[in-house]
Amino acid sequence: MTGPTTVTGPTTVLDNIGLLVTNDPTIGEGVLGLLPNASVVFAGEHVIAVGPAGQTADLRIDASGACVIPGFVDSHTHLVFAGDRGDEFAARMAGRPYEAGGILTSVAATRAASDEELAVLTDVRRTEARRAGITTLEIKSGYGLDAHHEARCLQVGQQFTADTTFLGAHVVPPEFDGRTDDYVHHVCTDMLAAAAPHARWIDAFCEVGAFDVDQSRAILAAGKAAGLGLRLHANQLGHGPGVLLAVEMGCASADHCTYLTDDDIQALAASDTVATFLPATDFSTRQPYPDARRVIDAGASVALATNCNPGSSYTTSMSFCLALAVRDLRMTPEEALLAATVGGARALRRADVGRIAAGFRADLVVLAAPSYTHFVYRPGVPLISAVIEAGLLT
Ligand code: NIG
Repeated sequence: MTGPTTVTGPTTVLDNIGLLVTNDPTIGEGVLGLLPNASVVFAGEHVIAVGPAGQTADLRIDASGACVIPGFVDSHTHLVFAGDRGDEFAARMAGRPYEAGGILTSVAATRAASDEELAVLTDVRRTEARRAGITTLEIKSGYGLDAHHEARCLQVGQQFTADTTFLGAHVVPPEFDGRTDDYVHHVCTDMLAAAAPHARWIDAFCEVGAFDVDQSRAILAAGKAAGLGLRLHANQLGHGPGVLLAVEMGCASADHCTYLTDDDIQALAASDTVATFLPATDFSTRQPYPDARRVIDAGASVALATNCNPGSSYTTSMSFCLALAVRDLRMTPEEALLAATVGGARALRRADVGRIAAGFRADLVVLAAPSYTHFVYRPGVPLISAVIEAGLLT
């Protein structure tokens, strides 16, 4: 058994766990640290002990022999937006390619929505994500695209997470049409000043049709000077310099990584930058899937995230991402589960989530299944029967 022995306040035991995934190889078997017939004791927000079934506590929750996993850590979402782009999605399914410009449809709707409306819309999506087993998530701005609207979108995001990301460099807004360099200057000065107090991270969309490598570098450098951590949308729609820029700048994460050269993979493997795959995006944009196998075999750190957004990936289902990751990105079920938990935590530089072990936040997901393999084996089936987030049964 692991964990401290002294606690104050009531304790709760999640007991009768058929298969516990701790993600801690020092606690259980293999890379997932598997413990059969287990229980987890938590007090307040944190796990205090992991061990065999039958540990005692003030309160008891019965897992009925099911599999329990750490809560998913979704390191890439755009949850704060208004409006709907179902028509754009339908047109895409009929053959139209995905274009970065669709983002402006969401910008218009988001600017027109009140703070209260945005908070309600975000709350609905956050609740949906929690029901899907996501207990930690990052939220980007990027549908405001001026100082006032970016700051208020980040303030809405802060109501739901400490991991808010300033994405003023999503696309160029209409008022700067044809003046991308002027907009980049605005992002790096007035917008950053308004956004930084409400953000932990800065991000840019480094892609043809959005921002080039020099513009993206300038934006990341300005964010770093303002004290923000760095992340980058890289190599989503084609090969390009994004991944190498993310590594050069020491980004915590290079997100998308759909198109990777051998040089990109070697650079990722030699760095601390996590390659974050967003396979629901490749599904929804009819793009090829990245070959995660090559990236993992090269020794790079990887994460899986939903990229929940109204244009390229309108899903909060990490289970769906796991199924795609195994079937189409060539990950094993174990690698996919690690990427959606520990990998996400690494991509957010969080040391308190992603594992079930003493001292970690008590984020526990009870499956309606005997094994995590069922995420892939039974795609599309609602397999989450209960979610405990920070010690609270939600
Ligand atoms: O990660 N790549 C840029 N941003 C989003 C798309 C947002 C949208 O289409 O509204 C993405 O896929």
